[in-house]
Amino acid sequence: MLNRRSFVMGAALAALPLRGALANVPTPYDWGASPPTASRQAFVDWMVKNRGEDANFLGQRYDRYLKLVAGKDLWDADTTRAYLMTPREEFVTHDNLARAYEGHFLTIGFGVTITGPHSVCRMTDTLAIKRDDRVLEIGTGSGYQSAVLSNLTPNVFSIEIIPPLAQRTRAIYDSLIARGYSEYGAITTKNADGYYGWPEHGPFDKIIVTCGIDHVPPPLLQQMKPDGIMVIPVGPPGAQHVLKVLKKPNGDGSFTAARSDIYYGQIQNFVPFTGGHQGVSAL
Ligand SMILES: C[S@@+](CC[C@H](N)C(=O)[O-])C[C@H]1O[C@@H](n2cnc3c(N)ncnc32)[C@H](O)[C@@H]1O
Repeated sequence: MLNRRSFVMGAALAALPLRGALANVPTPYDWGASPPTASRQAFVDWMVKNRGEDANFLGQRYDRYLKLVAGKDLWDADTTRAYLMTPREEFVTHDNLARAYEGHFLTIGFGVTITGPHSVCRMTDTLAIKRDDRVLEIGTGSGYQSAVLSNLTPNVFSIEIIPPLAQRTRAIYDSLIARGYSEYGAITTKNADGYYGWPEHGPFDKIIVTCGIDHVPPPLLQQMKPDGIMVIPVGPPGAQHVLKVLKKPNGDGSFTAARSDIYYGQIQNFVPFTGGHQGVSAL
Protein backbone atom coordinates (compact mmCIF):
# COMPACT_ATOMS: atom_id res chain seq x y z
CA MET A 1 0.00 0.00 0.00
CA LEU A 2 1.26 3.51 -0.80
CA ASN A 3 1.44 6.03 1.98
CA ARG A 4 0.73 9.67 1.09
CA ARG A 5 4.41 10.58 0.80
CA SER A 6 5.32 7.74 -1.58
CA PHE A 7 2.18 8.44 -3.61
CA VAL A 8 3.15 12.08 -4.00
CA MET A 9 6.73 11.18 -4.98
CA GLY A 10 5.42 8.51 -7.38
CA ALA A 11 3.18 11.08 -9.04
CA ALA A 12 6.13 13.47 -9.27
CA LEU A 13 8.35 10.87 -10.95
CA ALA A 14 5.60 9.80 -13.38
CA ALA A 15 5.28 13.42 -14.48
CA LEU A 16 9.01 13.94 -15.04
CA PRO A 17 9.88 15.34 -18.46
CA LEU A 18 11.33 12.84 -20.96
CA ARG A 19 15.04 13.09 -21.35
CA GLY A 20 18.01 11.07 -22.48
CA ALA A 21 16.94 10.85 -26.12
CA LEU A 22 18.54 14.16 -27.01
CA ALA A 23 22.24 14.77 -27.63
CA ASN A 24 24.55 16.70 -25.34
CA VAL A 25 25.21 20.35 -26.18
CA PRO A 26 28.16 20.18 -28.61
CA THR A 27 29.42 23.79 -28.30
CA PRO A 28 30.39 25.59 -25.06
CA TYR A 29 28.00 28.36 -24.01
CA ASP A 30 28.95 31.71 -25.54
CA TRP A 31 27.22 34.93 -24.39
CA GLY A 32 28.16 36.52 -27.70
CA ALA A 33 26.56 33.83 -29.89
CA SER A 34 22.97 34.19 -31.10
CA PRO A 35 20.96 31.96 -33.39
CA PRO A 36 19.92 33.57 -36.69
CA THR A 37 16.25 34.60 -36.94
CA ALA A 38 15.98 35.47 -40.63
CA SER A 39 14.48 32.09 -41.52
CA ARG A 40 13.13 28.97 -39.80
CA GLN A 41 15.67 26.74 -41.56
CA ALA A 42 18.63 28.95 -40.67
CA PHE A 43 17.53 28.96 -37.00
CA VAL A 44 17.01 25.18 -36.89
CA ASP A 45 20.34 24.45 -38.63
CA TRP A 46 22.30 26.75 -36.27
CA MET A 47 20.66 25.29 -33.16
CA VAL A 48 21.15 21.66 -34.27
CA LYS A 49 24.82 22.40 -34.91
CA ASN A 50 25.54 24.47 -31.79
CA ARG A 51 23.04 23.14 -29.26
CA GLY A 52 22.42 19.57 -30.44
CA GLU A 53 18.65 19.94 -30.08
CA ASP A 54 15.82 18.22 -31.89
CA ALA A 55 14.90 19.83 -35.25
CA ASN A 56 11.19 19.20 -34.76
CA PHE A 57 11.07 21.08 -31.42
CA LEU A 58 13.31 23.79 -32.82
CA GLY A 59 10.90 24.37 -35.69
CA GLN A 60 8.04 24.70 -33.20
CA ARG A 61 10.14 27.09 -31.08
CA TYR A 62 10.70 29.28 -34.12
CA ASP A 63 7.00 29.23 -35.08
CA ARG A 64 6.08 30.35 -31.54
CA TYR A 65 8.77 33.07 -31.75
CA LEU A 66 6.96 34.58 -34.75
CA LYS A 67 3.68 34.55 -32.80
CA LEU A 68 5.35 36.11 -29.73
CA VAL A 69 6.63 38.98 -31.84
CA ALA A 70 3.29 39.39 -33.65
CA GLY A 71 1.48 39.45 -30.28
CA LYS A 72 3.86 42.15 -28.96
CA ASP A 73 4.97 39.81 -26.16
CA LEU A 74 8.59 39.84 -27.31
CA TRP A 75 10.44 42.94 -28.50
CA ASP A 76 13.98 43.10 -27.12
CA ALA A 77 16.92 41.39 -28.89
CA ASP A 78 18.40 39.93 -25.68
CA THR A 79 15.06 38.49 -24.52
CA THR A 80 14.53 37.10 -28.02
CA ARG A 81 17.87 35.33 -27.81
CA ALA A 82 17.00 34.02 -24.31
CA TYR A 83 13.67 32.62 -25.55
CA LEU A 84 15.25 31.03 -28.62
CA MET A 85 18.09 29.45 -26.60
CA THR A 86 15.77 27.81 -24.03
CA PRO A 87 14.46 24.27 -24.74
CA ARG A 88 10.90 24.47 -23.36
CA GLU A 89 10.46 20.77 -24.20
CA GLU A 90 12.86 19.96 -21.32
CA PHE A 91 10.59 21.64 -18.76
CA VAL A 92 7.12 20.31 -19.64
CA THR A 93 5.93 16.94 -18.35
CA HIS A 94 6.17 14.04 -20.80
CA ASP A 95 2.40 13.83 -21.25
CA ASN A 96 2.55 17.41 -22.58
CA LEU A 97 5.67 17.04 -24.72
CA ALA A 98 3.73 17.43 -27.97
CA ARG A 99 2.18 20.64 -26.59
CA ALA A 100 5.44 22.25 -25.36
CA TYR A 101 5.18 25.20 -27.79
CA GLU A 102 1.47 25.89 -27.45
CA GLY A 103 0.80 29.47 -26.43
CA HIS A 104 -0.79 28.92 -23.02
CA PHE A 105 0.14 27.41 -19.66
CA LEU A 106 0.23 23.62 -19.14
CA THR A 107 -0.16 21.56 -15.98
CA ILE A 108 3.04 20.16 -14.43
CA GLY A 109 1.54 18.23 -11.48
CA PHE A 110 1.10 19.36 -7.86
CA GLY A 111 -1.83 21.54 -8.97
CA VAL A 112 0.46 24.09 -10.63
CA THR A 113 1.50 25.05 -14.16
CA ILE A 114 4.36 26.02 -16.45
CA THR A 115 3.55 29.59 -17.46
CA GLY A 116 2.71 30.10 -21.15
CA PRO A 117 5.46 31.45 -23.41
CA HIS A 118 3.59 34.70 -24.14
CA SER A 119 3.40 35.61 -20.43
CA VAL A 120 6.99 34.48 -19.83
CA CYS A 121 8.31 36.68 -22.63
CA ARG A 122 6.19 39.75 -21.85
CA MET A 123 7.10 39.61 -18.14
CA THR A 124 10.80 38.98 -18.90
CA ASP A 125 10.97 41.76 -21.48
CA THR A 126 9.30 44.18 -19.02
CA LEU A 127 12.14 43.55 -16.55
CA ALA A 128 14.73 44.90 -19.06
CA ILE A 129 17.44 42.68 -17.55
CA LYS A 130 21.06 43.75 -17.91
CA ARG A 131 23.96 41.28 -17.86
CA ASP A 132 25.09 42.04 -14.29
CA ASP A 133 21.58 42.25 -12.77
CA ARG A 134 20.66 40.10 -9.80
CA VAL A 135 17.24 38.59 -10.44
CA LEU A 136 14.91 36.86 -7.97
CA GLU A 137 12.06 34.63 -9.11
CA ILE A 138 9.23 33.62 -6.77
CA GLY A 139 7.69 30.35 -8.01
CA THR A 140 10.32 28.16 -9.71
CA GLY A 141 7.65 25.68 -10.85
CA SER A 142 8.87 23.83 -13.94
CA GLY A 143 12.12 25.81 -14.03
CA TYR A 144 11.43 27.25 -17.50
CA GLN A 145 11.25 30.92 -16.49
CA SER A 146 14.59 30.83 -14.66
CA ALA A 147 16.14 28.93 -17.55
CA VAL A 148 15.15 31.86 -19.81
CA LEU A 149 16.52 34.33 -17.23
CA SER A 150 19.88 32.51 -17.10
CA ASN A 151 20.44 33.55 -20.74
CA LEU A 152 20.19 37.20 -19.65
CA THR A 153 22.25 37.26 -16.46
CA PRO A 154 24.40 34.76 -14.56
CA ASN A 155 22.78 35.85 -11.24
CA VAL A 156 19.43 34.09 -10.96
CA PHE A 157 17.81 33.09 -7.65
CA SER A 158 14.56 31.14 -7.58
CA ILE A 159 12.29 30.00 -4.74
CA GLU A 160 9.62 27.27 -4.89
CA ILE A 161 7.26 26.50 -2.01
CA ILE A 162 6.29 22.88 -2.91
CA PRO A 163 9.12 20.64 -1.61
CA PRO A 164 8.91 17.73 -4.13
CA LEU A 165 8.52 20.16 -7.04
CA ALA A 166 11.54 22.19 -5.89
CA GLN A 167 13.47 18.90 -5.68
CA ARG A 168 12.29 17.67 -9.09
CA THR A 169 13.17 20.92 -10.84
CA ARG A 170 16.59 21.07 -9.16
CA ALA A 171 17.20 17.55 -10.57
CA ILE A 172 16.16 18.75 -14.05
CA TYR A 173 18.64 21.65 -13.90
CA ASP A 174 21.41 19.34 -12.65
CA SER A 175 20.79 16.83 -15.42
CA LEU A 176 20.74 19.58 -18.07
CA ILE A 177 23.98 21.05 -16.68
CA ALA A 178 25.52 17.57 -16.96
CA ARG A 179 24.41 17.50 -20.62
CA GLY A 180 26.23 20.76 -21.34
CA TYR A 181 23.65 23.46 -20.55
CA SER A 182 26.24 25.23 -18.40
CA GLU A 183 24.13 28.43 -18.29
CA TYR A 184 21.79 26.74 -15.78
CA GLY A 185 24.69 26.65 -13.33
CA ALA A 186 23.80 30.34 -12.80
CA ILE A 187 20.47 29.40 -11.18
CA THR A 188 20.48 29.11 -7.38
CA THR A 189 17.32 27.47 -6.04
CA LYS A 190 15.71 26.88 -2.69
CA ASN A 191 12.55 25.41 -1.25
CA ALA A 192 10.86 28.05 0.90
CA ASP A 193 7.98 30.51 1.09
CA GLY A 194 9.00 33.22 -1.37
CA TYR A 195 6.87 35.86 0.36
CA TYR A 196 9.87 36.73 2.49
CA GLY A 197 12.31 36.95 -0.43
CA TRP A 198 15.93 35.89 -0.11
CA PRO A 199 17.73 38.67 1.81
CA GLU A 200 21.05 36.77 1.90
CA HIS A 201 21.31 37.17 -1.89
CA GLY A 202 19.73 40.62 -2.18
CA PRO A 203 19.29 43.39 -2.88
CA PHE A 204 17.93 42.53 -6.32
CA ASP A 205 17.78 44.63 -9.47
CA LYS A 206 14.76 42.71 -10.72
CA ILE A 207 12.10 40.45 -9.18
CA ILE A 208 9.62 38.28 -11.05
CA VAL A 209 6.67 36.74 -9.21
CA THR A 210 4.96 33.94 -11.13
CA CYS A 211 2.00 33.31 -8.79
CA GLY A 212 -1.00 35.55 -8.11
CA ILE A 213 -1.45 37.47 -4.85
CA ASP A 214 -3.72 40.29 -3.66
CA HIS A 215 -0.90 42.66 -2.72
CA VAL A 216 2.78 43.37 -3.34
CA PRO A 217 4.72 41.63 -0.55
CA PRO A 218 6.56 44.31 1.48
CA PRO A 219 9.67 42.10 1.98
CA LEU A 220 10.10 41.83 -1.81
CA LEU A 221 9.84 45.57 -2.27
CA GLN A 222 12.36 46.08 0.53
CA GLN A 223 14.83 43.68 -1.12
CA MET A 224 14.73 45.61 -4.40
CA LYS A 225 17.46 48.13 -5.29
CA PRO A 226 16.52 51.76 -6.04
CA ASP A 227 15.18 51.92 -9.62
CA GLY A 228 14.61 48.16 -9.44
CA ILE A 229 11.70 46.60 -11.33
CA MET A 230 9.30 43.89 -10.18
CA VAL A 231 6.64 42.14 -12.27
CA ILE A 232 3.88 40.53 -10.25
CA PRO A 233 0.32 39.28 -10.87
CA VAL A 234 -1.86 41.15 -8.35
CA GLY A 235 -5.55 40.51 -7.73
CA PRO A 236 -8.06 37.98 -6.42
CA PRO A 237 -7.70 34.24 -7.23
CA GLY A 238 -7.99 33.58 -10.98
CA ALA A 239 -8.15 37.28 -11.94
CA GLN A 240 -4.93 39.22 -11.68
CA HIS A 241 -3.43 42.28 -13.29
CA VAL A 242 0.24 41.75 -14.07
CA LEU A 243 1.88 44.84 -12.65
CA LYS A 244 5.23 46.41 -13.34
CA VAL A 245 6.35 47.96 -10.04
CA LEU A 246 9.16 50.49 -10.29
CA LYS A 247 10.90 51.40 -7.02
CA LYS A 248 11.67 55.11 -7.33
CA PRO A 249 13.78 56.77 -4.61
CA ASN A 250 12.31 60.09 -3.41
CA GLY A 251 15.71 61.47 -2.39
CA ASP A 252 14.94 61.57 1.33
CA GLY A 253 15.46 57.86 2.07
CA SER A 254 11.84 56.98 1.23
CA PHE A 255 10.68 55.59 -2.12
CA THR A 256 7.61 55.40 -4.33
CA ALA A 257 6.38 52.17 -5.90
CA ALA A 258 5.07 53.28 -9.30
CA ARG A 259 2.74 50.69 -10.81
CA SER A 260 1.56 50.05 -14.35
CA ASP A 261 -0.40 47.18 -15.88
CA ILE A 262 1.66 45.36 -18.52
CA TYR A 263 -1.59 44.03 -20.12
CA TYR A 264 -3.35 47.43 -20.07
CA GLY A 265 -6.27 46.18 -17.97
CA GLN A 266 -6.62 42.67 -19.41
CA ILE A 267 -7.16 40.07 -16.64
CA GLN A 268 -4.65 37.18 -16.36
CA ASN A 269 -4.97 33.91 -14.45
CA PHE A 270 -2.00 32.72 -12.39
CA VAL A 271 -1.58 29.89 -9.87
CA PRO A 272 -2.17 31.26 -6.33
CA PHE A 273 0.66 32.59 -4.17
CA THR A 274 0.41 30.23 -1.21
CA GLY A 275 2.09 30.18 2.19
CA GLY A 276 1.46 31.66 5.59
CA HIS A 277 1.40 35.37 4.75
CA GLN A 278 -2.39 35.82 5.02
CA GLY A 279 -3.22 38.80 7.16
CA VAL A 280 0.11 40.52 6.46
CA SER A 281 -0.51 44.21 5.80
CA ALA A 282 -0.62 45.12 2.13
CA LEU A 283 1.49 47.64 0.25
C1 LIG B 1 2.60 29.41 -12.55
S1 LIG B 1 3.47 28.34 -11.50
C2 LIG B 1 5.06 28.08 -12.17
C3 LIG B 1 5.73 29.20 -12.85
C4 LIG B 1 7.14 28.90 -13.27
N1 LIG B 1 7.87 30.11 -13.34
C5 LIG B 1 7.15 28.13 -14.57
O1 LIG B 1 7.13 28.72 -15.64
O2 LIG B 1 7.08 26.92 -14.50
C6 LIG B 1 3.76 29.29 -10.03
C7 LIG B 1 4.61 28.61 -8.99
O3 LIG B 1 4.62 29.42 -7.82
C8 LIG B 1 4.75 28.55 -6.71
N2 LIG B 1 4.40 29.28 -5.48
C9 LIG B 1 3.17 29.60 -5.00
N3 LIG B 1 3.28 30.26 -3.82
C10 LIG B 1 4.61 30.36 -3.56
C11 LIG B 1 5.35 30.91 -2.48
N4 LIG B 1 4.77 31.49 -1.43
N5 LIG B 1 6.70 30.85 -2.54
C12 LIG B 1 7.34 30.25 -3.59
N6 LIG B 1 6.67 29.68 -4.62
C13 LIG B 1 5.33 29.74 -4.62
C14 LIG B 1 3.80 27.43 -7.07
O4 LIG B 1 4.02 26.28 -6.28
C15 LIG B 1 4.12 27.23 -8.55
O5 LIG B 1 5.11 26.28 -8.75
